[in-house]
Amino acid sequence: MEKNKIYNEDFAEVLPEDHFEAIDHPVLQYENYYEYQESFSNWHFDKWADESLDDVIDLSLKFRGKAIDNIMDEVLPFQREKSKVMPKNSIKGASLAYWYMKNEIPNMSHSGYKEKVKPEKHPTIMKIVDWFEFEDDQSPVILEKNIGDYQQWHVDCHAPTNMVRVLIHLQDWEFGQVLLWGTKPIVQWRAGDAIMWDPNVPHATVNAGRRKRYTLRITGTPSARTLEKLKTGGTILVDNL
Ligand SMILES: [Fe+2]
Repeated sequence: MEKNKIYNEDFAEVLPEDHFEAIDHPVLQYENYYEYQESFSNWHFDKWADESLDDVIDLSLKFRGKAIDNIMDEVLPFQREKSKVMPKNSIKGASLAYWYMKNEIPNMSHSGYKEKVKPEKHPTIMKIVDWFEFEDDQSPVILEKNIGDYQQWHVDCHAPTNMVRVLIHLQDWEFGQVLLWGTKPIVQWRAGDAIMWDPNVPHATVNAGRRKRYTLRITGTPSARTLEKLKTGGTILVDNL
């Protein structure tokens, strides 16, 4: 009885420091996990910066051809992976849950689903992935963004490493779909358009359109060839790969 009383009065809100699941981490000094991630970025964070689209994003690489026109034939039916569950003492989980509740955001399932690229199901997509010649840790996934899905303004957490991330649109842009990179909105893309960016640049996405949006995302450790190709850009005819 006495024990319960102590627990309710002293420990109801915060686990004692010596509890095996107590959290002590720099993220707690920030309003939310996204701000903690931003602390690793060297971007200017100036809302009124005088800059162009080219300053915040590289849209110079495009994949084209019949294979791209028909690429949704191998994307659908989309088979999403089971959502990952964070450990119950996860720093990220605790920080995000606190901030979502504080701001009365009704649910945390708004950033869409993923399907790993499978060579048998996605042969054309695999050709695009292989074109990049990543050296290691290559992880290609198809992202599905449902109507109403959004991803808050954030910097990617791979920012401090040498990992590279590329997005490739699998469909033409639809009214209501928006990507925001740095200070600039991106709209009117075509299927096969790639997006390359400095991981220090924060970004957000929203699907306020009337159709689901599918994008290929490739993350990996680049080879010298990968970096050369990313720098060169250009139009790649997928039918010839
Ligand atoms: Fe991101």
